Amino acid sequence: MFKEGIKYRKCDNGDFIKLHEINQERFINKTSLTTFKVGERLHRNTIFLAEDNNNAVGYVFGMGSQDNPEEGWIRQIAVLKKYEGRGIAKTLQKLCIEAFKSMRGVRYVGLSVEPGNKPALCLYKSLGFKIVEPEQVYETIAVNGKLAIKDYYGPGEHRFIMKKEL
Ligand SMILES: CC(C)(COP(=O)(O)OP(=O)(O)OC[C@H]1O[C@@H](n2cnc3c(N)ncnc32)[C@H](O)[C@@H]1OP(=O)(O)O)[C@@H](O)C(=O)NCCC(=O)NCCS
Repeated sequence: MFKEGIKYRKCDNGDFIKLHEINQERFINKTSLTTFKVGERLHRNTIFLAEDNNNAVGYVFGMGSQDNPEEGWIRQIAVLKKYEGRGIAKTLQKLCIEAFKSMRGVRYVGLSVEPGNKPALCLYKSLGFKIVEPEQVYETIAVNGKLAIKDYYGPGEHRFIMKKEL
């Protein structure tokens, strides 16, 4: 698939290093190389890369749930700063959603998002994701009038849960 010269493809052997490099540029709380290696091995059907001239410029990291076959989960998405605002994340996320649709039993896609991450919230909303009330097992906190999971990623790291029905 092509868009403005950007090529999109499914994850292949060795891509974990490319994902990790983009992650290191885009996140303050960085993800380990091991996590991407495990992702490449176990979840490659729901990981996609965007490339410009064979250079990785973005990725989406999706994973099926091990205890709920109805759930697909988008673990992470990132696009290099230089490539933002061109619809790359939206295309990546659509590819991931389509991949989940083709997986037997998956009925919705979920994700967590930092309440203050406006670009990510706008991206997810533009694709039809809606903030949902967290499951009752979690302690919650109201942020901007919506319930988030309290301390999801450690003290003060609250997260909204968003879902999209397939
Ligand atoms: C969030 C991120 C992936 C968006 O990537 P992107 O390629 O620039 O996004 P797109 O160009 O595909 O934009 C998709 C939609 O989100 C909206 N959007 C993106 N950035 C936005 C911003 N800063 N403000 C408002 N809306 C924004 C776009 O308007 C677009 O909506 P539309 O199609 O209705 O116009 C990118 O900013 C990023 O990598 N951020 C750092 C990592 C991160 O926070 N990831 C998310 C948490 S895992």
